[in-house]
Amino acid sequence: MMDPMDFSTGTTNPETFPIEELAEAAACAVREHGVELNTYPGNLGHEGLRKLMAKRELDREGVAMNPERMMLTNGSMQAVTLVAEALCQGRDDVVVMEEYSYAGTIDAYNSLGIDMVGVPVDDQGMKVEALASILTRLDKEDRPPRFIYTLPTYQNPTGAVMPLERRIELLKLAREHDCIVVEDNCYGDVHFEASPKPPALYTLDDGPNQIYMCSLSKIFAPGVRLGYLTASSDELFDQILARRHDAGSNTLAAAITARYLEDNLWEHCERANVGLKEKRDAMLDALEAEMGNLCSWSHPPGGLFIWVQVPDGVDLLRLEALAAEREVSFAHGWEFHIHGAEGPFIRLAFGWASVADIHEGIARLAHCIKQAPA
Ligand SMILES: Cc1ncc(COP(=O)(O)O)c(C=O)c1O
Repeated sequence: MMDPMDFSTGTTNPETFPIEELAEAAACAVREHGVELNTYPGNLGHEGLRKLMAKRELDREGVAMNPERMMLTNGSMQAVTLVAEALCQGRDDVVVMEEYSYAGTIDAYNSLGIDMVGVPVDDQGMKVEALASILTRLDKEDRPPRFIYTLPTYQNPTGAVMPLERRIELLKLAREHDCIVVEDNCYGDVHFEASPKPPALYTLDDGPNQIYMCSLSKIFAPGVRLGYLTASSDELFDQILARRHDAGSNTLAAAITARYLEDNLWEHCERANVGLKEKRDAMLDALEAEMGNLCSWSHPPGGLFIWVQVPDGVDLLRLEALAAEREVSFAHGWEFHIHGAEGPFIRLAFGWASVADIHEGIARLAHCIKQAPA
């Protein structure tokens, strides 16, 4: 169980978790799917949940996704790993990605021996002018990337959203270099503002080189371990499917989740987002009140994280120790750098703690930052 002032992990809000409704859905799902549970799920996984997730994508993006070309995965983390296993052929294969990215992907790609080439990021995500020169350089070096891995919406850890023009430019560059694009849209529906977000990359390119993955962890529950992956061509999809040797993902979890979400997917997201927005705002307010003159931070319109720049000279290990004494935790910025480069950054997750604990925890953290210069 996480501590009350744990700001280190990207979890959903326990206060909006629908325990009773889920218990009812579980009872129904077991009755409805009883016999199916006696069989293996197959590589694509539970059809009902795939159809529901295809509808989720259609409703959000206005573009149909074929549930027959969609596989359920053990969290989107399995999708992240499978793609690399399928598309990389040996150690030192190159993958181009944001230089700050999801720590789980960095760990997985490190252990696969992938040579991660980082593209600088700003508050609009991956900088595409830098991407252009990196792709040209890699071509000249005869090291074309196996794919570009990107988090264009509510980037983890920075919270950045890539604007439409950059998305179009990124896709144009990928086409020019004949490069596959892997879009990780883990936070796609964790959206707090009224203004619409830019369309997903997969809706903006009808070529055969798009891979798209999403998750149920960030809007529903990481414990169900459900994500999904699709690709824009059968060839690419089958190449990834062929790497799968786990007999498919958990039918029971998928059946219960589908049963719960099929009547109220968007109501559930709406409820969850209202609670998360309240927590994001509480954290922004607490940061302003406690660290206004000390640090700077992002103002993410969605996702689960605030990216904080601490004053130069703060010893982050000492800060971690001081904060742990006061029962506060955060994630170090270097965990999200593809080469573990140190920088004056920490990432704060606001989904788990209560509003009261967010205020208290940020006050304690501010106190620790003042104590932590090297
Ligand atoms: C960008 C990104 N991708 C993938 C994942 C993996 O999530 P899961 O396997 O729970 O779907 C995470 C988890 O934090 C993430 O931030």
